[in-house]
Amino acid sequence: MKFIIGNWKMNGNTTERDDMLTALSKTKTKNKIVLCLPFTLLGCEKFGISIGAQDVSNHDNGAYTGDISATMLKDMGAQYVIVGHSERRLYHNETNELVREKAEHAIKAGIIPIVCVGETAEEKAAGHTTSIIKKMLLESIPENGEYIVAYEPRWAIGSGLTPTESEIVTAVKTVFDTLPAPVPILYGGSVNAENARDIISIPYVDGLLIGGASLKSETFIPIINSID
Ligand code: PGA
Repeated sequence: MKFIIGNWKMNGNTTERDDMLTALSKTKTKNKIVLCLPFTLLGCEKFGISIGAQDVSNHDNGAYTGDISATMLKDMGAQYVIVGHSERRLYHNETNELVREKAEHAIKAGIIPIVCVGETAEEKAAGHTTSIIKKMLLESIPENGEYIVAYEPRWAIGSGLTPTESEIVTAVKTVFDTLPAPVPILYGGSVNAENARDIISIPYVDGLLIGGASLKSETFIPIINSID
């Protein structure tokens, strides 16, 4: 069983969500499909598809205007939450320590965090991919509990560029070797129906985290069908 996880980022409305969940619920697969939605689109378990959020507060409750706690996500039916996505790290200055706190709050509320790590183009060019992945992982993963790791090279997100197979193997093997115990490892960054099957066949890759191509059923369903 592989994970196929869509990340809608800041896109979509209730009509588009319902259309997607209806299409997903009609798609036969042995793999685990999860759709990570904006906060405003949670609360839709009736379609029978696992739902995730894209961020969570590192506080339980209280005077944190605009923030959403893990128990609130749980209350809205979220089973998963992405933490430390590179867009959060970049646009909201999220540190490894904050990401770990968020992951631990999710776990405490019974939600599985998807902890994202990945190098920038500059770090890759400087030959620092392996050391960056190790550092991000060791500082971002929760101490205990169930979680998932997503390896997403920043330069591959939304760019149409993907690492070579051997680059992915090296990166996900680094993740595997660095983790204190095995957890599912996803690859994310410009996954589409043409490359999904090849990427998911790479050793140590347990699933895919898909942004742009998860927004429309015409692009998302063929990915799911391609790896069944
Ligand atoms: P992309 O995004 O598939 O659009 O590259 C992946 C992600 O940001 O999780």
